[in-house]
Amino acid sequence: MPEGRPGPLSNMIEEQIAKVLYTSQAIQAKVKKLGERISYDYSEGGLARDPRGLPPILVCVLRGALMFMADLLRQLPITVECDFIQVASYGDGTAPGAVRLINDLDEPIQERDVLIVEDIVDSGYTINYLRRNLSARRPASLRICTLIDKVSRREDPVDISYTGFVLEQNVFIVGYGMDYAGMYRNLPYIGLLKGENS
Ligand code: PRP
Repeated sequence: MPEGRPGPLSNMIEEQIAKVLYTSQAIQAKVKKLGERISYDYSEGGLARDPRGLPPILVCVLRGALMFMADLLRQLPITVECDFIQVASYGDGTAPGAVRLINDLDEPIQERDVLIVEDIVDSGYTINYLRRNLSARRPASLRICTLIDKVSRREDPVDISYTGFVLEQNVFIVGYGMDYAGMYRNLPYIGLLKGENS
């Protein structure tokens, strides 16, 4: 910083985190295990249903699942494809749980084996919207993988095939793709934001 100029307010995100909930190491170990299970299921496990034998498609739910998707892909020694979808909750004034599609998949998924990759399932509205939306395209199979299952907040029951961590506490978490007002996605771990969980 040039001499004599006042410094900016700190933009160091670590200083804004009250507590680390899942360390980077814990996340990586969990992602590795999930990768092993998924690889087994879609190879020897016989879960693949695509009549043409095409590889499963992992669908990353943007934006929160970006880091999880990137790490999970690197833990899969099987052939897969990936695609991306972006949804958002409607703002105030609409029915609770209303979800809208912002960016759709690039490729058709009919008769394909599809695995939706989410960072977190909270109320369950988003994932159930996605399940309905993608099911209507008649995939050969459709399963859900989430890094975090925040069970305490469930409003709409969800059938999840692969879960990393079950979060019982009703706390607001950030990091590893998850944001507060668009920030903190770049933390390599998951933590509680100062002032948001008191
Ligand atoms: C988060 C998360 C899930 C959804 C879960 O996305 O990535 O998609 O909320 O919440 P629900 O179970 O209550 O529906 P968010 O809407 O924050 O968008 P983002 O992924 O772009 O951060």
